[in-house]
Amino acid sequence: MQFQNKKKVATITAVGMYVPEKILDNKYLESIVDTSDEWIMTRTGIRERRIMENGATSDMAVKACEDLFKTTSVKPEEIDVIIVATVTPDMLFPATACLVQEKIGATKAWGFDLSAACSAFLFALQTGASLIESGTYKKVLVIGSDKMSSIVDYTDRNTCILFGDLASAVLLEPTENQNIGIKDSMLFSDGSGKDALQMKAGGSLNPASHETIDKKWHYIYQDGKAVFKVAVKGMADVSYEIMKRNNLTSDDVAYLVPHQANLRIIDATAERMGISKEKVMINIDRYGNTTAATIPSCLTEYYRDGKIKKGDNLILAAFGAGYTWGAIYLTWGLD
Ligand code: ACO
Repeated sequence: MQFQNKKKVATITAVGMYVPEKILDNKYLESIVDTSDEWIMTRTGIRERRIMENGATSDMAVKACEDLFKTTSVKPEEIDVIIVATVTPDMLFPATACLVQEKIGATKAWGFDLSAACSAFLFALQTGASLIESGTYKKVLVIGSDKMSSIVDYTDRNTCILFGDLASAVLLEPTENQNIGIKDSMLFSDGSGKDALQMKAGGSLNPASHETIDKKWHYIYQDGKAVFKVAVKGMADVSYEIMKRNNLTSDDVAYLVPHQANLRIIDATAERMGISKEKVMINIDRYGNTTAATIPSCLTEYYRDGKIKKGDNLILAAFGAGYTWGAIYLTWGLD
């Protein structure tokens, strides 16, 4: 560990993702709960989602990292820090970051998991950027990986239509180029929202017992309507505020990169920012809500499709359980 005085700017220098093979489409959900493709599409914009059949969150994270390492000269053994943003760790402890560290051979890295539900990737990205900016670390892997199918009750139509499994990773490194990189963040928590979206059991409040299993407390509980209202306002306001604070007009923004929970929440955010639909990254139709993986997977797919170019201003925005929410403004630095 070496301390340097000069403040650095952190920028994303590589991306990767893992998409599980199994597809769970709306037609299949019609056969297991009282729902319809039409209801799901109009209320959420989700057509299908992916399911990780053999393996856990760390396995998906490792595959996303392997995909990333194919595209960079950086080797796993050069990684300083691994942050795994997740709400579905393999176990309560040890941290999934430790499992990933061992599996990818990041022999000199330390790491930890970051729990902020759907905002976790943003919180992790800012944390990783701060570690780089401090001058202490040079290579930080920020991973969003969630096996949501492990905490979804497939008899509950309110939630089982929403979530899917996915992993994606970005590498953060310092840059001397002040025109690119992570430029600003506005991140928030409000624990008064805890009752609207939670997994009640499995922690120290309600340790696993026959009773908690019988009550289905190891599954996601969500008061969808309550969350919807605050999510629309929270994500739209923070996205607008970060633009205003940085004197950005809608013309200055190449893309809004929103957390993919519901197409209607995304549309409301874009509208508040004055951004047209073509400038909004979307993959919710193919993956559903993949919690910590939504934003990095959008970045990976749009970059690989040649849709983002160096110098593009991006606004990343999310809202999730906690409540947690926020936005990050960055300028894309990859050619
Ligand atoms: N199929 C058919 N009908 C359904 C289904 C379904 N899958 N699910 C619910 N319904 C019914 C409800 O029972 C209700 O019926 P009722 O009026 O007879 O009671 C009716 O449809 C309307 O239900 P609402 O909850 O009002 O539906 P809404 O339009 O709000 O959509 C949704 C529900 C999609 C969950 C929405 O509320 C939402 O997106 N909420 C926010 C989600 C979010 O952003 N979460 C944060 C991130 S997740 C995280 O942090 C882990």
